[in-house]
Amino acid sequence: MEIRFRDTDATAIKTDLLVIPVREKKLDEPAIRALDRRLKGQLRQRIEKGKFIGAEGSTLLYAAAGLVPAAQILLVGLGGEAEVVNDTWRKAAARARKEAAAVGATELAIYLAPGKDLDSTVSAAVEGVLLASYQFNKYRSNAKAPTELKGLTFFAPRLKRSSALQQAADRAQTIAAAVFLARDLINEPPSVTTARFLGEQAELHCRGRGLSVEVWGMRKIEAMKLAGLLAVNRGSHEEPRFIAIHYKPSGKAKKKVALIGKGITFDSGGLSLKPAKSMETMKLDMSGGAAVIATMSCLPKLGLDVEVTGYIPATDNLPGHNAQKPGDVIRYLNGKTIEVLNTDAEGRLILADALALAARQKPDYMINLATLTGACMVALGSQVAGIFSNRQALAEDLIRCGQETGEKLWQLPLVKEYKEQIKSGVADMKNIGGAHGGAITAALILQEFVDNVPWAHLDIAGPAFSESDGSLCPKGGTGFGVRTLLKFLSTI
Ligand code: BES
Ligand code: MN
Ligand code: ZN
Repeated sequence: MEIRFRDTDATAIKTDLLVIPVREKKLDEPAIRALDRRLKGQLRQRIEKGKFIGAEGSTLLYAAAGLVPAAQILLVGLGGEAEVVNDTWRKAAARARKEAAAVGATELAIYLAPGKDLDSTVSAAVEGVLLASYQFNKYRSNAKAPTELKGLTFFAPRLKRSSALQQAADRAQTIAAAVFLARDLINEPPSVTTARFLGEQAELHCRGRGLSVEVWGMRKIEAMKLAGLLAVNRGSHEEPRFIAIHYKPSGKAKKKVALIGKGITFDSGGLSLKPAKSMETMKLDMSGGAAVIATMSCLPKLGLDVEVTGYIPATDNLPGHNAQKPGDVIRYLNGKTIEVLNTDAEGRLILADALALAARQKPDYMINLATLTGACMVALGSQVAGIFSNRQALAEDLIRCGQETGEKLWQLPLVKEYKEQIKSGVADMKNIGGAHGGAITAALILQEFVDNVPWAHLDIAGPAFSESDGSLCPKGGTGFGVRTLLKFLSTI
């Protein structure tokens, strides 16, 4: 898709779909007035008839019938908030993209009202247009090819095209491609996305200046004593993988960051088998790993000046004949031991290895993403991730990044009193807590492995996978976390 910037007004632009974003009750905008004059008052009439006031998410489509060069006009409501935030722009642009598909438009022009911070408005809008166009049709025999958008033009009278605007658009395209990669990896059936496949995909996509990939197989994982990954893998026919991706900027790195993603390629629960219904979506359990691979994959293009290492422990969790059993004890490389009382609490078992390994490098920050607990979904629903951190400032930075990207994070507490619940009769701790607060006890177990490095844990069990079509993403893997991680990495 070609993205252009033009200094022109709404009555002069030739395009298939002309999009005018409208603030609530601000229908006397010059762009609308000019169009209405050309259309001999008919636009105003339609607005009144349709009772369109610009409420957030509302639209009004008008066929211009030859009176202006644009074929169709779409007004998109931005709502009445004092300040239009990026996420509103993102969603409005997504609406425009959907409408374009519905009317078969291949050229889209969006009016860019003068304002501050046009760069971030443009990147949000480009993201919205692109994210909304994602489809995963690989396994449908009757899928219609989606209408391709050929061009997207941002315009306004006296709009100055600058390299900053063009760069913002380019970055948004890079970021959307990374989100698509994460979605694809999640949406693939679990017999395709094995640990080996994830390793191959990391090698395939994480290329470019400063980026290197190491994929450890069984031997190396044994040699490195990744006991949690080995324990979970025992019930499987597939070999595990431990994926490490390293990015070193060409200049001096401002900070050193470790990203850790849960890579359970299918979670059956193991011997503590899940009921059939709960297993239906369990290919999603590598969403954290997918987000880390996708994030790493675009660091060279974005040219960020931070050193980043991504770690993804990968295996499926199956009840094969050699599977780990409730009552087994795992001894970790940092000396700590965990009694496994429920083999379905496997995410923490494999993340423990990865966190301990990452902590040895003494990064400035460690951030892990994991579809860790159903309890977090119970607490926050399907659109909000839980965030836990041992440093308040880090939690707040990430939450703020999430507000800008529209990926909602809500902080949950590391209640040290609940450590009581993970005490074991035979080992340092057990892998499950009591009946309540399961997201917290899971986080407390992870914390035992971070060695007091500044760390944040994102429990993305809810938002990693969408059960219904949304404005920015169809049903399926969402790629949650990629955009927030990239925002965070570009602001520290
Ligand atoms: N992968 C699941 C968590 C999950 C559940 C993610 C639903 C997305 C949607 C995780 O491995 C798990 O099974 N957790 C258990 C922990 C329990 C056994 C302590 C859970 O949440 O039930
Ligand atoms: Mn599980
Ligand atoms: Zn799991």
